[in-house]
Amino acid sequence: MAILYTRIGFLLFAFLVSSSISVSVSLTFSPADESLINCGSDVDSTVDNRVFVSDASSASNVKLFSPEGSIALQGEYLSLNVPQIYRTARIFARQAKYELKVGEKGTHMVRLHFNRLNSSKINLSDDAEFHVTVNGHVVLRNFRGGYDESRVREFLIWVDAGEVVIRLIPSRDSKLAFVNAIEVISAPKDLIADTATSVSRDGTGKLNGLAKQAMEVVYRINVGGRKVTPFNDTLWRTWVTDDEYLKAGHASEKAYFTGRIKYRPGGASREVGPDNVYNTARVARRSSGVVPEVDMSWDFPVSADYKHLIRMHFCDIASKSLGLLYFNIYINGYLAYGDFDISYAADNVLASPYYIDFVVDATVDSRSSITLSVGPSNMTSVGEGGLDAILNGVEIMKMSNSLGSLDGFVSADTILTSCPNRRNLSIFIAMMAFMCIFMSFYIATQRKKVRDDYGWTKLSMDVREDNPKSGHQFASRLP
Ligand SMILES: *[C@@H]1O[C@H](CO)[C@@H](O)[C@H](O)[C@H]1NC(C)=O
Ligand SMILES: *[C@@H]1O[C@H](CO)[C@@H](O)[C@H](O)[C@H]1NC(C)=O
Ligand SMILES: *[C@@H]1O[C@H](CO)[C@@H](O)[C@H](O)[C@H]1NC(C)=O
Ligand SMILES: *[C@@H]1O[C@H](CO)[C@@H](O)[C@H](O)[C@H]1NC(C)=O
Repeated sequence: MAILYTRIGFLLFAFLVSSSISVSVSLTFSPADESLINCGSDVDSTVDNRVFVSDASSASNVKLFSPEGSIALQGEYLSLNVPQIYRTARIFARQAKYELKVGEKGTHMVRLHFNRLNSSKINLSDDAEFHVTVNGHVVLRNFRGGYDESRVREFLIWVDAGEVVIRLIPSRDSKLAFVNAIEVISAPKDLIADTATSVSRDGTGKLNGLAKQAMEVVYRINVGGRKVTPFNDTLWRTWVTDDEYLKAGHASEKAYFTGRIKYRPGGASREVGPDNVYNTARVARRSSGVVPEVDMSWDFPVSADYKHLIRMHFCDIASKSLGLLYFNIYINGYLAYGDFDISYAADNVLASPYYIDFVVDATVDSRSSITLSVGPSNMTSVGEGGLDAILNGVEIMKMSNSLGSLDGFVSADTILTSCPNRRNLSIFIAMMAFMCIFMSFYIATQRKKVRDDYGWTKLSMDVREDNPKSGHQFASRLP
């Protein structure tokens, strides 16, 4: 009882601390829904002032259903700089799900963190292989978990009612599923626009209905700038540099702006892109001689079987005055936007951000990369040294296919039904367990014998011993 009160007191304290911190660091945006979960740990952990609540805590609005139990795994041989949420994982031998209550209808950012931990008990490098679904969308299939830079996968999921359900399903009986941390955050209303410009060999057109489409963020690039970490982003995103994607052989220079970025209604908001993205860019300068068709190009490898939403971020931080910068935007070599007048788009304000959404269908010409280019337009009339083009940021989102899947042509229902019927199996196992307990009680009363068993049962009993609070969550709840 005393322990319980201490725990409640601690949670209350953690809650007060976390709410006061989040008030002071969140710049403007405070999401209606925000669930941060630290999986496989019985303590909360704080990363960049954000508290990830233990998934064994009954205080959160998160429920874990795992009919056949789970293991809370502690990573071994981890270097000291590995953040706390990547030091533990929850492991499942059978289908399990996390249910997170959400209050707001609309797009939610779902970030799943996977760090394939080293452990002498379980070898995840060998044994992890699983599927993940989120609210009926297949988001990962035959996934084996990431490490280092590839630990986070981010999905944008439209939520109609009540909850986000994340299912983890081992791909075969002999395989395991795991997860280190989960974030579910309601996106600001203006994050995903419903309409975009489609670009193909047949020209451009309008495409509607994007808001309810499930997507995976595959690239988030701060062009010409530095890496932006969740600590410095309004929505705790990571933006990486563009160096690796910029095609060589083109003259471009990095631009950096120290003044204030002028966010205004009708343009991009600070949630769409933070100051650190808009105050850096790559620009192409007019040189004497032949005017090239394109000045700068970037190549992004993508999977060929999906449509992609491409968001290009612009902010004229480099022109000396308005009305001087016009350029063409090309996607996969097709003209996507001719004579883009950045001053007009930004309501005649310099250093004011703006973005354009395009959709390309990679399946049409089965391309395995997306090429973005900018180049001078016929309206450009700058002299030598004037600007030909600019780009500040790029985001590329993979869009779910007609089966609602982001990973393969298979529906979530097919994945769930192709697993053996766990319900009957788990009743059977419960009966077996009961008999085992009865037998072992009997044997124990006959003669005291030390069990030395390194199998799954032993580990899962360890969990219960370490962490008795979690016991009730794993007991005989069925999906
Ligand atoms: C696992 O442990 C080995 C040996 O200590 C180490 O070299 C390797 O980097 C570790 N892997 C991860 C993902 O931490
Ligand atoms: C895990 O399995 C991989 C591949 O078989 C092997 O290279 C690695 O050493 C194993 N790690 C441990 C901790 O046993
Ligand atoms: C945040 O951004 C500032 C200004 O760009 C930079 O000096 C600082 O190192 C960044 N912090 C982190 C944790 O990325
Ligand atoms: C620019 O001018 C050239 C030659 O006059 C023409 O072929 C091309 O289509 C024009 N480009 C745009 C985007 O209008």
